[in-house]
Amino acid sequence: MKEIVLVAALSENQAIGKDNQLLWHLPEDLKRFRAMTLGHTVIMGRKTFDSIGRPLPKRKNVVLTRNENWSHPNVAVYNDLKKAIAECAEETLMILGGAEIYAQSMPLADRLELTHVHSHFQGDAFFPSIDEDIWKADRGEKKTDAASGISYTFTRWLRKQP
Ligand SMILES: NC(=O)c1ccc[n+]([C@@H]2O[C@H](COP(=O)([O-])OP(=O)(O)OC[C@H]3O[C@@H](n4cnc5c(N)ncnc54)[C@H](OP(=O)(O)O)[C@@H]3O)[C@@H](O)[C@H]2O)c1
Repeated sequence: MKEIVLVAALSENQAIGKDNQLLWHLPEDLKRFRAMTLGHTVIMGRKTFDSIGRPLPKRKNVVLTRNENWSHPNVAVYNDLKKAIAECAEETLMILGGAEIYAQSMPLADRLELTHVHSHFQGDAFFPSIDEDIWKADRGEKKTDAASGISYTFTRWLRKQP
């Protein structure tokens, strides 16, 4: 069975970005993100790809766009989310956002690997709300980034059995 995993970092008010940029710099979170996604297929929206600016190394990069003329070296392009998921043969598909793609893929996801940042941020892109009737949290220990003083918790959310 293919596993669909959403990977995201979100603030207390569910913000994930502003002006097509991230809102914080948390080196431990970037490390975890890298370790978690290496070797897997990563799927992202065209705006998130633009924000990163290049394909992520050592991962199969899939970008979603409705623009049929869009292309980039070393990137597989799809115009349809469900088609991308169906046609990627790998067992674990990591969905990297942003807001539009999280909203569309959350109903299809099996697992959410979230970094909950314990601050409010003003953003213009948000993670969808998490329905705790559907999702069960396995929370890690709260950590604090020494440089910024921002605290955060890595949390795995799994779908509750029906
Ligand atoms: N904190 C985090 O973990 C995290 C992670 C990722 C991103 N972000 C932030 O999120 C923000 C970007 O999110 P966003 O919602 O603006 O953009 P996005 O979801 O990255 O990309 C949206 C684009 O994806 C394409 N698209 C959307 N749905 C599609 C579909 N069903 N089929 C084909 N293509 C589809 C469209 O591209 P075209 O316009 O080319 O047609 C659309 O404009 C940035 O601020 C970024 O920094 C944060």
